[in-house]
Amino acid sequence: MKGIILAGGFGTRLYPITKVTNKHLLPIYNKPMIYYPIEAMVKAGINRIIIITNPPHINDFVNLLGSGQDFKDKNGKQIQIVYGIQNKPSGIADGLWIAKDYIGTENCILILGDNIFWDDLTTHLKKFKDGAMIFLKEVGDPQRFGIAEIDENNNVISVAEKPKKPKSNLAITGIYVYDNTCFKKCIGQRASARGEYEITDINNLYLKEGKLRAIKLKKEWFDAGTIESLLETSNFVKSYHEKHSSTTKN
Ligand code: TTP
Repeated sequence: MKGIILAGGFGTRLYPITKVTNKHLLPIYNKPMIYYPIEAMVKAGINRIIIITNPPHINDFVNLLGSGQDFKDKNGKQIQIVYGIQNKPSGIADGLWIAKDYIGTENCILILGDNIFWDDLTTHLKKFKDGAMIFLKEVGDPQRFGIAEIDENNNVISVAEKPKKPKSNLAITGIYVYDNTCFKKCIGQRASARGEYEITDINNLYLKEGKLRAIKLKKEWFDAGTIESLLETSNFVKSYHEKHSSTTKN
């Protein structure tokens, strides 16, 4: 399985911080944001990753990450990082499509670069065979998120975007695992009213086939795309580091 990290977008909710730089290069406590999804993938055993970003910022990512020399797999071997260019932020499904040739005939995990989480995905990826897997997190304000309704076997029954009457409090996070049919599913898709190729349309095709399963994240999950959540995520990482270093000292 190969990894795709989306690091394009407009970043308008972080203006003016993102006026001349890319959201995913901003610090989350002591590291650039993009390090977190890379490290989450490496922890889960993914060692070939494509980072997709926009033309003005691609050189900054290359300068920061190179070929992946700062990241080692479990055997101490350097991972591989390559790059893809999304000319315009035309949606998550558009980003997925850009990765098609790099993914080849394999399965893939797609993570939105501003999603920061602590769950270890290793066993979920090992068990994955076909279809699609989305990752859910319980939230207090489900009206603000894409929400999934699931049965007792973790099969998805329905998904709804920012529902007025949510059927659950399980938000759909920016972590998706797909078999290789995701690329066939991209063909013939139309842009939505907001002009984006929506990942929900791809997930709905898996849902229609009865092949959309869900995993509940157990640990913290942040979407660091707003001023408030950027600070909240940094503060969380800071307190995590402080707790961790005091545990090792004692
Ligand atoms: P969003 O947070 O939905 O959009 P954005 O990053 O453009 O921010 P804003 O709404 O403040 O303008 O994007 C979610 C993630 O997906 C984020 O990490 C950026 C990435 N993304 C792309 O890489 N390409 C895209 O076309 C879109 C829409 C998002």
